[in-house]
Parts: sequence; structure tokens; C-alpha cells
Amino acid sequence: MAALRAIAKTSNLPEGQMQLIEVDGQPLLLMRVAGEFFAVGGLCPHRSAPLIQGWLRGTVLECPWHHYCYDIRSGENLYPRNVYPADLPHLQRDLQPLRCYPVRVDADTLWLEEEGVLYGHGRESRMDASRLGDALE
Ligand code: FES
Repeated sequence: MAALRAIAKTSNLPEGQMQLIEVDGQPLLLMRVAGEFFAVGGLCPHRSAPLIQGWLRGTVLECPWHHYCYDIRSGENLYPRNVYPADLPHLQRDLQPLRCYPVRVDADTLWLEEEGVLYGHGRESRMDASRLGDALE
């Protein structure tokens, strides 16, 4: 069984809303959609826009800068993938997926599965629950 780390109180995250937390210096975006919780990287994989300033419509997250859209369940790029010609590989390279992190809910606590690691500064870093005080209050 995977080890779990507490990252937020579910009561602090209303339906259809986003909450930005910082874990080990990396932004992580939490969302509740149709009663289900999701955690994704807080920066757009395209040019690192702050996704907390974007728009959440159902399970689709739209970036505020160039309007790329991602499925928060899989991280898949939905737009502009759907309009880019498949025979232009230089465009396809521009469509990196949004990083998704596995979470679980127990009572009022949102838990990150320990294999949900963040990558930054060229190294792997594990979630540091001690830096999540704001999210857990
Ligand atoms: S930075 Fe997000 S779409 Fe360009």
C-alpha cells in the first residue's frame, strides 16, 4: 500500500474551485469537481503560466496566457492538440501534458499518494508535508 501525506483540508476547497499550495518550492493546484479531488502541477507545461489564474470548466483547465486546455483527470492537452495538424511534428512537441498527482480523501483530509513526487530544478523531490500548514488550517 502506498504511503500517504496530508496536503489539504477538503472543507477548504469548495466545488468547482481551485486552491494553490506550494510543496517543496513547487506550486501544486488542487481542485474539486463533481465531488472528486484532483492535484496537478501549478504551472502550464507550455510556457509556465500560473494556472491558478486560468479557468476551470468541469474537468477542463484553461491556461490564462495562450488558452491551452488540459484534462485534469489525465493531464492530456485538449487544445490546441485538436486543431494542430498531425503531420507537423514541431507543433506536436509543443503539447506537453499537465502533470497529475494521485490523491485520496479520508474524512476532511486530502492525501497525496507518496509516489506522487514533484520534479524541479533537475532533481526529484518528495512532498514536504511540514510546509503545508496553510493548506491544512
Ligand atoms: S503558457 Fe499556458 S498556454 Fe502558453
